This record gives sequence, C-alpha cells and structure tokens, in this order.
Amino acid sequence: MPKELESKTALVTGGGRGIGKAIALRLAASGALVAVNYAHNSAAASQTVAAIEASGGDAFAIRMTLGTESAARELAAKACAELKRRRGTERIDIIVNNIGGGDYARLTDVSEEQYDRLMSNNCRGAFFVVKAFYDRLNDNGRVINISSVGARLTDPNIIVYTMAKAAIEAFTRVLAAELGPRGITVNAVGPGFTAGETNQHVVDDPTMSRMVIDNTALRRFGQPEEIADVVHALASSAGRWITAQTIDASGGFKL
Ligand SMILES: NC(=O)c1ccc[n+]([C@@H]2O[C@H](COP(=O)([O-])OP(=O)(O)OC[C@H]3O[C@@H](n4cnc5c(N)ncnc54)[C@H](OP(=O)(O)O)[C@@H]3O)[C@@H](O)[C@H]2O)c1
Repeated sequence: MPKELESKTALVTGGGRGIGKAIALRLAASGALVAVNYAHNSAAASQTVAAIEASGGDAFAIRMTLGTESAARELAAKACAELKRRRGTERIDIIVNNIGGGDYARLTDVSEEQYDRLMSNNCRGAFFVVKAFYDRLNDNGRVINISSVGARLTDPNIIVYTMAKAAIEAFTRVLAAELGPRGITVNAVGPGFTAGETNQHVVDDPTMSRMVIDNTALRRFGQPEEIADVVHALASSAGRWITAQTIDASGGFKL
C-alpha cells in the first residue's frame, strides 16, 4: 500500500533541530522526499537526515540562513536542483515555514536588532521563501506556517514575538486567498510550550514548569511529534478542505 505522501516533495525550514526535525521525520516517514534546511548546525541537520534514511526515508540537508530574499532564492535554486537530481522534478508540494523563536523582552527593553531579528525569523523569512518557490509550488500543494499560541496572547513580555506571529497568521490568510485557485491550501499551526532544547530551562525550573502545566488544559508540555502530527494531517489528503486557518496545537494553553 503506498504511503500517504509517496512521490511528494517537501521543504522544512529549520528542520535540523526541535519541532522542525520532528516535522521532517514525520513527512519523510509518510513517503515525502524532504529538504531539511538549517542555519549553522551541520551536525544536527546531518543527524536528522541520517535518522530519516535509517528508517527508509529520503532527505537531504541544505544550509542557508533565511530572512532575506537573496537567501530564499539561493535556497530554492539549491533545493530544486537536488530534487531534480533525486526525483527528476524541480517542483515542490509541501513548504513548512518553521523557523522562528522568541525572546522575552518588554517594549522598553527591545532593541532594534532584537525587533528586526524576531520579525525576520518569524515572518520575513517565510514570506520570501514562498515568493522564491511561487512558480515551482505544485497545484494542490500545501504551505504550512509554524506560528505560536503567542500570537493570541497579550503578554507584554513577548510583545515582538506576538506581533511577528500575528503577522505570519495574517500572511497565512492572505496567501490562502492567493493560492486557493491553484488548489493549494495554506494554514498555520500554533504550538504551545513544547518540550525540547528551546524550553529545557522551563521544563527544569519547577516554578516555570508549574506555570505552564497549570495553564495548559491537558496539564503537560507538548512533544515535538505532536506538532508534527498536526502538520502531517494538514499536508496529507485529510487536510484538503482546510485552508486559511490557524490550528492551535497547545494542549489548550491559556484558554
Ligand atoms: N518550542 C516551543 O515550545 C515553541 C512554541 C511555540 C511556537 N514555536 C515555534 O516553532 C518553531 C520551531 O521552534 P523550535 O523551538 O523547535 O526551534 P529550534 O529548536 O530553535 O530550531 C531551530 C531550527 O531552525 C534553524 N534556524 C533558526 N534560524 C534560522 C534561520 N534564520 N534560517 C534557517 N534556519 C534557521 C536552526 O538551525 P541550526 O540548527 O543551524 O541552528 C534549527 O534547525 C518556531 O517558529 C517557533 O517560534 C515553538
């Protein structure tokens, strides 16, 4: 029996570690050939590719620090050349814009560098990736943007992160209108606190950990694989009638 994403091609930005790694593994386990993008940590990206190959999947790593149009164009050129080499097609079916991340900083403490970096990682990078792949994105394809429950919170400590994730959700809705006539769905997934490197300090701190658990309806941290399952559902045929939505994958954080 063919796998759900057999013959599909996918790009996961920031697929070397964390949630992006889990997404790359999930899409590959479902049969997709996955381009695993990362910024600096070649060892982590190689491990992700090796793990995919060890379970019979197909993937390759591409180093590119995203955030500018030129970087996105270079990524698209490299990814498409490798897709052609491996599958005889330059075209992509699934784009997962996963890079992001936030800093804790109140308005009066936010530097220009911090503001620009958060906007770049959480929003500008995704915008120019989609622009770079626009003509090579297959009809009936998928764009999935990783947002955050932070987009709907009103916590002054994460003001720029909230603004940047709200922007990616607005991008998601407008892009869904733009790409809908081609049968392409565009959705966002909003994780809550997810266990892993990014949040290890939160998991390890009893007070912070308690705050997360008490504010989560399902009373625990999420796992990267639980975000990846939602992304996979949207990427698969089960997701074909869902577009322009943000799916909260937080176990019910701060309902
Ligand atoms: N973790 C959470 O609890 C949580 C909660 C809500 C939302 N999110 C969102 O989920 C997404 C993934 O978060 P995460 O915590 O899993 O991230 P992470 O562990 O920090 O993963 C970062 C990955 O992204 C790559 N990366 C970072 N900046 C990049 C850039 N400019 N260009 C290319 N690659 C870049 C890193 O490459 P290197 O390995 O080379 O550094 C790494 O592969 C983000 O959008 C984040 O905002 C996370």
